[in-house]
Amino acid sequence: MSITTIILAAGKSTRMNSLKSKLSFKIVGKPIIEHVVKIACQISSKKIICVLNNPTETYGDILKKNNIAITYQKNPRGTAEAVQVALKAKQHEPNNTVLILYGDVPFISKKTLTSLISKTKRNDMCILTAVLNNPFGYGRIIRSNKKIVEIIEEKDANLEIKKINEINTGIICIKEGALRKYLKLIKNKNKQREYYLTDLVSLLSNNKLKVASHRTSDILEITGINTKKDLILLEKKKMIEKANKLLKKGVLIRDINRIDIRGNLKTKTDVEIDINCVFEDEVSLGKNTIIGQNCYLNRCKIGNNVHIKPNTIIFGATIGDGCVIGPYARIRPGTVIKNNVQVGNFVEIKNSTIDEGTKINHLSYIGDAILGKDINLGAGTITCNFDGKKKHKTIIESGAFIGSGTKLVAPIKIKKGSYVGAGSTLTKDTAGEGSLTIARSKQVTIKKWKNRINKGKK
Ligand code: UD1
Ligand code: MG
Repeated sequence: MSITTIILAAGKSTRMNSLKSKLSFKIVGKPIIEHVVKIACQISSKKIICVLNNPTETYGDILKKNNIAITYQKNPRGTAEAVQVALKAKQHEPNNTVLILYGDVPFISKKTLTSLISKTKRNDMCILTAVLNNPFGYGRIIRSNKKIVEIIEEKDANLEIKKINEINTGIICIKEGALRKYLKLIKNKNKQREYYLTDLVSLLSNNKLKVASHRTSDILEITGINTKKDLILLEKKKMIEKANKLLKKGVLIRDINRIDIRGNLKTKTDVEIDINCVFEDEVSLGKNTIIGQNCYLNRCKIGNNVHIKPNTIIFGATIGDGCVIGPYARIRPGTVIKNNVQVGNFVEIKNSTIDEGTKINHLSYIGDAILGKDINLGAGTITCNFDGKKKHKTIIESGAFIGSGTKLVAPIKIKKGSYVGAGSTLTKDTAGEGSLTIARSKQVTIKKWKNRINKGKK
């Protein structure tokens, strides 16, 4: 079945009280529009058309990257007009089906859309409905002998109709032939003087075409965003839903109200996550791994039996099995940490590889470096990787022992098994196995110093 998806997004976002379009605000880690585009790409076999208000709404490269056709509805006068504008961007294909999504309903699922589309095969049109405890604001579904015959908008409804709690989610699927034929006949005789797409229901049903409905019980997937309050409430509910799924799967999440999963978090058995952790983009956690309080993990892969201690930030890195990272460590993009490495407090590592068994336990900066196995880096070891213009590499070979407070001016190589004396500033390579390199000013003691000062004063 060939499907064209139209995304309606020509709203003016007035209720957001913002100069930015509401669809550019992030929810669960991605702009609202990106969620809708992603699902449309999974469903559509044909081009996706997005109706926007004006050319200033670009949404970065989200629409372009996904090859979405853009049309503009300059003075929005209703959802039917918006669809009309979208249809102008494509040729008429009589055997095609059109799916209509809203740009501000981010969590609509593939499963629901697939059922909606599949029901449309046997009918001319299928409406996605839901039953709400509080249906205020929505178009109500009017049925006769169980068949859906009309949709009446809240603003046009009388008290009796307002009591109906089956609502139109706005998401519909319709055969293109029927859509083109009846869209033209829609009038704006209603309280809002708008062209309502929902009038298709009565038009099709009066002309003996088959209008079906599909009901979803997942309220989050049909919830739209109009205000910033809507945004944060929906986000919170989605986060709790994600946390609950993981909890059910066996992840020990200490407080499902205090975890933010803004992307895809993959976990193996016996993972434990303490409070206030944020996970963004793709993150995977190996078995028996513990994440302490207040950690931020973005685009990273953490191995088995790892302990990430509190207040640690890991972004764009891979951590091997059995490592202990933090507290207060910052692991930056391009870093690969192999098995059984220890990284302690106030250690920053960027674009570096750290091999098995190496320890960097306190107050260090390691940038653009390659570290071998079983190295001990003393507290305060710094790689001086930047000369003001270029970044240079530091290589520390296996088994080296670097004393505390050492500065390694790159490019430099600390050869296998070398010792470096504490407080050294090295600019040249070391000699290797068993050697000690030390580069610090000589210690001098001046006896009776105080007496000399006192004399000077007289
Ligand atoms: C619409 C439905 C209503 C349904 C509700 C679900 C109609 C007439 N009513 O009402 O039955 O219960 O959604 O949320 O369709 N848009 C345009 N151009 C326009 C008008 C709207 O692109 O001229 C876009 C908006 O950006 C939005 C969507 O269409 O993404 C819905 O518009 P909105 O004004 O929110 O419709 P509702 O009054 O909520
Ligand atoms: Mg709305």
